Amino acid sequence: MTVERTLVLIKPDGVRRGLIGAILSRYENKGLRTVALDQRVVDSAMADRHYAEHVEKAWYPPLRAFITSGPLIAMVLEGPSAVEAVRHLNGATDGVAAEPGSVRGDYSLSNRENLVHASDSLESSAREIALWFPTLP
Ligand code: CDP
Ligand code: MG
Repeated sequence: MTVERTLVLIKPDGVRRGLIGAILSRYENKGLRTVALDQRVVDSAMADRHYAEHVEKAWYPPLRAFITSGPLIAMVLEGPSAVEAVRHLNGATDGVAAEPGSVRGDYSLSNRENLVHASDSLESSAREIALWFPTLP
């Protein structure tokens, strides 16, 4: 198993609902190491860079409004197969369909306000970590 890094966001709904600790605990309990962590408010340009693969989609404007709507937590987590491990902990995109026991399955009923983002591949994690934490060694 290769040690990997992945970019994770606790989206503005998670911060507003006071779920930072509950969500972060799941990653810590799993054994992932927090390499970087920062609370930020992002603007539209940053949202467009982060969600470059989605900017042309019909549902992107409301997603951009949501992701820029308040503070979020950006972090880099590290551990064996971290990309897959965090995607699994987060659960399916739609909170209604997400497996009970996952972050989205336990805390979300929405396919937009679904609390967390995590890189979906090593290519994505490299791009996203460079975008959010450009000075991270
Ligand atoms: O986040 P994930 O990789 O699971 O899903 P995605 O398909 O890459 O979509 C990115 C994000 O867009 C989701 O996490 C939702 O917050 C949002 N989304 C949305 O607002 N409306 C949709 N119909 C689908 C996704
Ligand atoms: Mg995605």
